[in-house]
Amino acid sequence: MNKIVNLSIKKNTVIKSEDIYKNLIKKVKSLPTHFLYDKKGSKLFEKICKTKEYYLTRTEKKLLIKHSADIIKIANPKEILELGGGSSKKTKILIEAKLKVCKNLSYSSLDISDEALLMTFKELEKYKKKLKINLYKGHFIEDLTKLKFKKESRMFLFLGSTLGNFNNKVANKFLKNISEAMTEKDTFLLGVDLIKNKEIILSAYNDKLGFTSLFNKNILHVVNKEFSLKFKDTNFKHVAIFNDKKSQIEMYLKTKRKTKVKFPGRKEVLFEKGDKILTEISRKFSDSVLNKLLIDAGLQVKKEFRDKKLSYTILLLKTF
Ligand code: TRP
Repeated sequence: MNKIVNLSIKKNTVIKSEDIYKNLIKKVKSLPTHFLYDKKGSKLFEKICKTKEYYLTRTEKKLLIKHSADIIKIANPKEILELGGGSSKKTKILIEAKLKVCKNLSYSSLDISDEALLMTFKELEKYKKKLKINLYKGHFIEDLTKLKFKKESRMFLFLGSTLGNFNNKVANKFLKNISEAMTEKDTFLLGVDLIKNKEIILSAYNDKLGFTSLFNKNILHVVNKEFSLKFKDTNFKHVAIFNDKKSQIEMYLKTKRKTKVKFPGRKEVLFEKGDKILTEISRKFSDSVLNKLLIDAGLQVKKEFRDKKLSYTILLLKTF
């Protein structure tokens, strides 16, 4: 079994009960997004990916299948370094394309969740003879520079339009970090969801089978366990709206009735009926917003693979 290397997550990035409390008494209430992705949340997200409405995974996978040989040929990676890869089902497509033309490859995964790292290992175990697997537990913004980089050509991977889950400031910092870590031999493969018909976007985040709703409410169980709280999920409902001005999906938990939640050693937090707690955003990029982010980070497009119908793009990037 591969060992997970802990990159000793910085103290100031560890979230305390106090921070949760402060964010819930603000006018714009929120919970830290990463608490969505515990073991159960990660499994629910896999279910979302398979729903009829959630076009992102399917579209990205199709693009990868169609273009993996081309991507591998241009990037010619000795190491694939994936950031927040989840279960790495899509990564397998690239790994297989590489192993077809070359007998050895390193794969490193940097993820905040042990569960996700173990799922990655399970998915990739069968390539063990040809593939060297490294698992790193850490934050893909704070801890990226702690990875021991090889001088050979690496391909950074950031798929699933996870870039859209960052606000502009964080996205900017994240892309700069990667760009700074890259040498001129390295490439960066980035999957991004683009702006499209609002109805298509909205239904992707409000699937009929209700997996997104379960995924959203699961955050309450996670913070309950983590901070000894007693949120009742039956008092909340899942709401996902599209914010036109910011061009982003905003996912909330909305209270169905007056609710209170006791914080250990603190007062109760009171929620009025209809109060909303923001749990995650998912930005849908225009070409101009995306291009500006890339230029600001010193990244340029070497080749683009786009699904025009579903407005999803995979960019193969280099530094300039
Ligand atoms: N990266 C995924 C996305 O932006 C994460 C996600 C899944 C998500 N379901 C969500 C984000 C619901 C916001 C709301 O699509």
